[in-house]
Amino acid sequence: MSRTKSSRAWLKEHFDDHWVRRAQAEGWRSRAAFKLLEIDDKDKLLRPGSIVVDLGAAPGGWSQVAARRSSGNGEVIALDILPMPAIPGVIFLEGDFREQQVLEQLQLELNGRQVDVVLSDMAPNISGMKAVDQPRAMYLAELALDFACQHLKPGGSWLCKVFQGAGFDDLLHQARANFAKVLTRKPQASRPRSKEVYLLGRNKLTSPR
Ligand SMILES: C[S@@+](CC[C@H](N)C(=O)[O-])C[C@H]1O[C@@H](n2cnc3c(N)ncnc32)[C@H](O)[C@@H]1O
Repeated sequence: MSRTKSSRAWLKEHFDDHWVRRAQAEGWRSRAAFKLLEIDDKDKLLRPGSIVVDLGAAPGGWSQVAARRSSGNGEVIALDILPMPAIPGVIFLEGDFREQQVLEQLQLELNGRQVDVVLSDMAPNISGMKAVDQPRAMYLAELALDFACQHLKPGGSWLCKVFQGAGFDDLLHQARANFAKVLTRKPQASRPRSKEVYLLGRNKLTSPR
């Protein structure tokens, strides 16, 4: 391994260890929890009584944060292709969000209610081939945006993991048509070298512009 490569690997490991240790110490299921905590501290998405949908929820860090911060009459509906151990205050659906039948299950759970916040931290398994991984990731983000546009209350928020690269500008354009404001967030717990960023749509418009 070259010197640069090995020091990069050391930095990555050190960075990961720091957040993993903090997550264990503070009782969060994943270090991802810190990303949502930081964004929510700044942007105040989650309020007591919020109805929240958490897409790509396992192992459950974001759901824990959402359940805690929307407690009261709030409700968190979480979905993942992988199983997730129960979290108090969270309804969990297991399934692939790309499948129509799974979407219908989620809609059934909502029973016509509109949502305050749609979260998506979905990420496909990485093959290492950019030409395969980027479109897969973008497709999940597009589905999450589509769902948000259909199910958010006017004024609601959408927070979504996106990877900068092909398709990013189109997604941003689509988001800007549906929200009064679209912001980019890169929380500290997101690896600095990763192309991962979070798009935050604020104030969902009643109809696209
Ligand atoms: C980065 S993890 C989410 C971490 C989570 N936010 C937390 O705080 O613990 C990404 C998740 O997206 C899920 N995922 C990927 N593709 C999916 C799909 N098609 N449908 C549902 N979930 C999916 C993965 O199974 C994985 O659990």
